[in-house]
Amino acid sequence: MQRPTWFLDEADSLGRENTDPEHVARYDEKEDARAAAEVAMLRELLPATTSDVVDLGAGTGQFALLAAEQWENVTAVDPSPVMLDLLRRKAEAALSSLRIVEAGYLTYDRPAASVDLIYSRYALHHLPDFWKAIALSRIRTMLRPGGILRLWDVVYHFPLDGAIERIEHWCSTGYSTVEGGWTRADLEEHVRDEHSTFTWLLEPMLGEAGFAIEESDYDDDGIFAKYLLRAI
Ligand SMILES: C[S@@+](CC[C@H](N)C(=O)[O-])C[C@H]1O[C@@H](n2cnc3c(N)ncnc32)[C@H](O)[C@@H]1O
Repeated sequence: MQRPTWFLDEADSLGRENTDPEHVARYDEKEDARAAAEVAMLRELLPATTSDVVDLGAGTGQFALLAAEQWENVTAVDPSPVMLDLLRRKAEAALSSLRIVEAGYLTYDRPAASVDLIYSRYALHHLPDFWKAIALSRIRTMLRPGGILRLWDVVYHFPLDGAIERIEHWCSTGYSTVEGGWTRADLEEHVRDEHSTFTWLLEPMLGEAGFAIEESDYDDDGIFAKYLLRAI
């Protein structure tokens, strides 16, 4: 499909660090996506092995690789060629049946109502809010009615009053060197250059896109939100 010239270019907006080979090589050490617990939770909701599962913004594929051991049709989608190089190597070493596609929320295409579960962790914040809404609507169209969207991201769960103090507190929790994990500079870059939004903006967007929020879970600092969503 010919895209209009005003369409967001996902290759340009995917996050500086996600095309940085050093960051990507270190990613699995730095970030534990708790994939085993996620697969176990979702297996209860989606038992059929034949289910069609898509991980959007799969990165190094911590979730997608484990999901491919549980379900037969699993596709990992990401716009970063550097992330996908590493994922392809991991999939080859694991002899995995995982399908890997270079695309993003706004470009990955599937027939309407063909997918049972879409998983997306720590990736939607790469889109500004207008494009988040477009992405959520595209996800809703791909999912069959009753299908599941598991969304987990940095989403600010606090009132506007006090936002500056809450963000400063979060940045102060960053490590001083990359050996520790996410650094203060990483967290500052996230706030300054990426597009995490407030829960009180994202949640109406989810409703507008055609999702019912079945579960929402926020950490105590109001920085991370996990949602279990059903396509209505
Ligand atoms: C922090 S990593 C998260 C990877 C993985 N989901 C996890 O939880 O470990 C963010 C990923 O989002 C991807 N990303 C950035 N923009 C995207 C877009 N428009 N559509 C899909 N994925 C995107 C990046 O390339 C990167 O691999």
